[in-house]
Amino acid sequence: MAEAEISGIRACIFDAYGTLFDVHSAAARCRGDLGDKADSLSNIWRQKQLQYTWLRSLMRSHVDFWQVTGDALDYAMAAVGLDDPAMRQRLMDLYLQLDAYAEVPDMLAALKAGGLQTGVLSNGAPTMLKAAIDSAGLTDLLDHALSVEDVGIFKPDPRVYQLATDRVGVKPGEICFMSSNAWDAYAASHFGFRVVWVNRFGQPPERIPGAPDREIDTLAPLPGLLGLA
Ligand code: LAC
Repeated sequence: MAEAEISGIRACIFDAYGTLFDVHSAAARCRGDLGDKADSLSNIWRQKQLQYTWLRSLMRSHVDFWQVTGDALDYAMAAVGLDDPAMRQRLMDLYLQLDAYAEVPDMLAALKAGGLQTGVLSNGAPTMLKAAIDSAGLTDLLDHALSVEDVGIFKPDPRVYQLATDRVGVKPGEICFMSSNAWDAYAASHFGFRVVWVNRFGQPPERIPGAPDREIDTLAPLPGLLGLA
């Protein structure tokens, strides 16, 4: 990967879950009650949630991400042997108030101060995205909250990435897209975005089409990569 600044960018578009928001913060807040099941529950919940998006897209049987998130939680609770409707409700409520990663507010403020548009492009249903953005205090730092619900299919269908270019009103190569979900980063690169893979979890590279321009482990260095720091 080359080290020159990424130039010609007009908008920074972010994946939401796992990239701006810590999806594991919901189960973490219930650790006192979940005990040693908290981490496995959270990991299975996330993996199933993503699998169900891909499966439903292939099956041409779309439902929104709120439904998928609930279905995945039901699977995860069964997998760890939990039958607790009140805990299910609590975890779903907490999914609307996930923690933003610590560096996110300052990083977004730096991008906006540099004159770039900012936004999210997410599988999340519009009401989920609004709740998470408002709860994390990011409302004024994000110009766009784009949901796959406007195209009716999940990532990584190219129509999702096209939605961002259409709504932001710039060319694909003028968008810098950030995701901690490697498959999303690679697919966005394959579509034509400039891409920074936020490899928060130290994962190996994917073996699918696409080639992220940069790899970082938190979003803090992003303004510098764009020549703003
Ligand atoms: C999203 C998922 C992929 O926010 O994290 O789109």
